Amino acid sequence: MPKLLATSRKALAGTVRVPGDKSISHRALMLSTLAVGRSEVTGLLEGEDVLATAAAMRAMGAKINRLGEGHYEVFGVGVGGLLEPDDVIDMGNSGTSTRLLMGLVASHDITVMMTGDASLRGRPMGRVITPLSSIGAEITARDGRFLPLAVQGTDEALPVDYTPPVASAQVKSAVLLAGLNTLGRTVVREKTATRDHTERMLTAMGADVRVTEQAGGRVVSIEGLPELTPVSFSVPGDISSAAFVLVAASIVPGSDVTLEGVGLNPLRTGILPALRSMGADIEIVNESTLGGEPVGDIRVRAARLKATSDVGVDPSTMIDEFPVLFCAAAVAEGTSRFMGLEELRVKESDRLAAMAAGLAANGVKVEETPDGLIVHGMGGKVPGGGAVQTHLDHRIAMSFAVLGQMAKSPVTIDDAAPIQTSFPSFIDLMADLGAGLSLDG
Ligand code: S3P
Repeated sequence: MPKLLATSRKALAGTVRVPGDKSISHRALMLSTLAVGRSEVTGLLEGEDVLATAAAMRAMGAKINRLGEGHYEVFGVGVGGLLEPDDVIDMGNSGTSTRLLMGLVASHDITVMMTGDASLRGRPMGRVITPLSSIGAEITARDGRFLPLAVQGTDEALPVDYTPPVASAQVKSAVLLAGLNTLGRTVVREKTATRDHTERMLTAMGADVRVTEQAGGRVVSIEGLPELTPVSFSVPGDISSAAFVLVAASIVPGSDVTLEGVGLNPLRTGILPALRSMGADIEIVNESTLGGEPVGDIRVRAARLKATSDVGVDPSTMIDEFPVLFCAAAVAEGTSRFMGLEELRVKESDRLAAMAAGLAANGVKVEETPDGLIVHGMGGKVPGGGAVQTHLDHRIAMSFAVLGQMAKSPVTIDDAAPIQTSFPSFIDLMADLGAGLSLDG
């Protein structure tokens, strides 16, 4: 396990491009597989999670060729055309690959066995097993809800009208994807709107997707058995990866960094108002549209951050950015209270527990509650000097790499390997900006 040492060095400066959006990259490969003919993807994230999706789609009949960095062509099999893989599919660390593919497979008359790493094998799959069973798939899972599992799909799937009990784009997408090879209209009622990449991309491919706003949430429906047109997907930069750079440049005095071509889908950008509510200096320039998604360049300059509370943070427009926001709160002046975040306990790790432990190990006073954290900010550098356990979670590793930039003594991260799942260029990109990061072992 390569350790990562994060040391406070100097102000961060420069212009960089973060890799392609992970959510959109997964969907580009999956949806291209369901089109008949040749689709093209540029800006694809070549992280381990997305490569796991590519391997799974190949195992189910897609031809996927790499033409250059992030540039791929996909020859799809069409809606209803997925083939049964001849071996167990290994989803690695990727919850998105697993849950979305379970949806796709559920309405095909094939059986697919899936497993994953220790982190993924501990994550709840009941949230997709329940709706997919009601459309007619038979799912056998360890303890009824964990990987490894087998999905035996059906070619006589029933269109469901489903209200997920948790706000989850993965659950919504799994049900909508199952609805593709289902006769009739599949409906998902979201109490809180979640990222809508699946809806946008399917619409661009010619599917009949309808979205209506309703009491803070949305009703999304899709008419089954469309012929999906192959398209060219351009994947914008990942705001969830950009978040690490945004926080690092906000907290290290004197920093001035520009991130080019970042996706600014309004259901993903909650980190921007959250940081601004703490006093961050963030400017959006060059706004345009790429592949049906809003994009822009983000310029961030260091600022003295003050504490935030749940008032400034909207979990419906950010979720994966909380670990690094907790690091911003650790450096800010005052006490930040984060609530309503129980979903963070079922991500790649229990992110509330992992962040509380890592912050405490580095001298930050933090209280863990059942659904959040109370972070007592230091109003400047944290003591540091502690060892952090990442628990196979990329975002824990990168969050503490950021915190180390404002620590009096270096922060040691036990395992840098998980960073490969979503942001393989993270260490080089941060080092180019001036960050103190070094691999050990
Ligand atoms: C994702 C949805 C979110 C997010 C994950 C990616 C997606 O998960 O945390 O990193 O691509 O749909 P949930 O649906 O579990 O909230």
